[in-house]
Amino acid sequence: MQHALPFWGEHGLSLLIETERGNVLFDTGQTEQVLSHNLNWLGDAPRRVSALALSHAHVDHTGGLNVALALKPDLALYANPDLFRPRYARRGSEYKSIGLTMTRDELARRADLRLSATPVEIVPGLWTTGEIAERSEPEGRSNRHVVRSASGWHPDAYRDDMSLIIETREGVVVVCGCCHAGLLNTLARVRQIFPRPIVAIIGGTHLVDADAEHLQRVVRMLREVYGAPRLFLNHCTGERAVIALANAFGDHVEPFPAGAVLELD
Ligand SMILES: [Fe+2]
Ligand SMILES: [Fe+2]
Repeated sequence: MQHALPFWGEHGLSLLIETERGNVLFDTGQTEQVLSHNLNWLGDAPRRVSALALSHAHVDHTGGLNVALALKPDLALYANPDLFRPRYARRGSEYKSIGLTMTRDELARRADLRLSATPVEIVPGLWTTGEIAERSEPEGRSNRHVVRSASGWHPDAYRDDMSLIIETREGVVVVCGCCHAGLLNTLARVRQIFPRPIVAIIGGTHLVDADAEHLQRVVRMLREVYGAPRLFLNHCTGERAVIALANAFGDHVEPFPAGAVLELD
């Protein structure tokens, strides 16, 4: 893994996935400035994107959408159908919109919308998980995240949350955005879709609010059920979680900051 210094970081996530059969941008970071700066350092690769996939609606993943859509007219855009629900963060008595800033109509004009709650193959060997509907394990929640209905404010069910799956020779790699559906729920879904070893997990795993008991369970499940995959963690994983996982799995855990490059077979 290499770290390239010119790239900018922010609280957000955007990963460029290059494959022999096409490049896919997963999420767009929080701001247009950071995404366009970082895309500029990637040479020709961003201009060869054949699709964009959004892990969920939150602005730290969709804030650079305008810049991403400018890469190519009518870019194929993969997401869950619940992407457009207005979403808010509550601070005291204030509610701030943190969902998509673009309307469905505007997005449909500028992109080739491919909304699906079931797994879709974006390019050969690269899939969406579809909706993570079964959630017997803890979710990656924040108490501040709410949605509104006629009867008032409710916790966001994060139905829009999805991850990506990359097929490799040794097994599958799971690429998470924020993992609000919960890391263990996401892995269980991946295993249902692909009954193959999970060799690596990349991205934000939203363990930032996980208590010690939950972290212990994650460690145990990763070890006993999922064969201790390599972990390239960032974004909303949380420092305590990274430390707990690094204590358990040693050099199988690596940070994955802006500019990090990972090659997969
Ligand atoms: Fe999020
Ligand atoms: Fe996030």
